[in-house]
Amino acid sequence: MSTYGRLFRVTTYGESHCASVGAIVDGCPPGLELTAADIQTQLSRRRPGQSNLTTPRDEKDLVHLQSGTERGVTLGTPIGLLVKNEDQRPHDYSETDLYPRPSHADYTYLEKYGIKASSGGGRSSARETIGRVAAGAIAEKYLKLAYGIEIVAFVSSVGKIHLPSTVSSASSNEDDDEAQDALSEEFRHLIKTITREEVDKFPTRCPHPETSERMIQRIIRAKDAQDSIGGTVTAVIRNVPSGLGEPVFDKFEAALGHAMLSIPATKGFEIGSGFKGTEVPGSKHNDPFVRRDDGKLGTTTNWSGGVQGGITNGEDIYFRIGFKSPATISQGQATAQYDGTPGELAARGRHDPCVVPRAVPIVEAMAAIVVLDQLLIQNSRKTAASLLPELSGLPPSMVQPKNASAA
Ligand SMILES: Cc1cc2nc3c(=O)[nH]c(=O)nc-3n(C[C@H](O)[C@H](O)[C@H](O)COP(=O)(O)O)c2cc1C
Repeated sequence: MSTYGRLFRVTTYGESHCASVGAIVDGCPPGLELTAADIQTQLSRRRPGQSNLTTPRDEKDLVHLQSGTERGVTLGTPIGLLVKNEDQRPHDYSETDLYPRPSHADYTYLEKYGIKASSGGGRSSARETIGRVAAGAIAEKYLKLAYGIEIVAFVSSVGKIHLPSTVSSASSNEDDDEAQDALSEEFRHLIKTITREEVDKFPTRCPHPETSERMIQRIIRAKDAQDSIGGTVTAVIRNVPSGLGEPVFDKFEAALGHAMLSIPATKGFEIGSGFKGTEVPGSKHNDPFVRRDDGKLGTTTNWSGGVQGGITNGEDIYFRIGFKSPATISQGQATAQYDGTPGELAARGRHDPCVVPRAVPIVEAMAAIVVLDQLLIQNSRKTAASLLPELSGLPPSMVQPKNASAA
């Protein structure tokens, strides 16, 4: 459906060529200082036409706050967020009356609903993600002010070009366990320190000058060939309290994976050591505990990616999402019309040759929405439990030591 979240609920609306797109955000805590400017920064990072690496569709994507705030403060009531679609060109898509675009959503939407928006991607268009980014900016502001939580995403690969610190020195020798280095010191440093300012110095949003330059050339090569190319986005969430995540079906990583895989064009999700972790023996993959400066337990390594048993452990949460090469390409492609007649489709319209630079703020938004929802759920449980009389007579193995309270 079009709603995500239990207590922080985000409903998005809109299609690629309708009058406006946006969201209703229900469950935002009251008393949060919030203006359109807080939301606009992230929308402007997502908007098309930012560089020659993205679609030329010219949208300003200015947000209009419709409800839920007064005098720049949230009221606790639903917040309406509206962004006008201004640069629609539905006629760019007339050839898709005959042809479903290969690997786009035209065929499956018609199979499902028996009807679909006449032009563009309709509901499956990335225009839909505007509502998510606007809602995510609200969640993020609360998380920053209340908990000091920071969320930063960056591009970690385009095609076969990878940010060096995210590539493991995986060995081809199957008996050589020592050569595995999926979580290098360099990568740990990167996820501890990376900022949005550093990421935004590069049009690719890959924070490494030489790699970014190679990525630019790769994207331009795809564009010049009327083709497209995919990539990955890596993200980190810092300062998340321990105790978030709802076993068993709403484990933290399941909620995060659900949210990330709902972004258009996503094909893969991994958290912590991810698939590389399967190649590392337990003796190296375990994260040993250590006492932190604040007296709580931390871990010396973080292969787990900040989540164990579906519950956050207070360490940095980091994850990676794979985005496919965009489906709409201008070069002719042999395919079939809706009625099965073979033919060639060369799509018109304006397209992203690679979506990952623009996907960065969308990933950050979905991460913020997940964290705030899980935080509100855990806080309501803790508040309810705190009202009960204190228990006594339970064995130590059943209760949390006094100095180690969770979120
Ligand atoms: C930021 C962003 C921009 C996108 N731009 C395009 C585009 O220009 N052309 C295209 O075919 N798909 C684009 N997509 C992906 C499509 O929306 C998506 O592939 C399509 O709806 C089919 O859905 P699926 O890939 O999730 O199966 C974009 C996705 C994102 C996240």
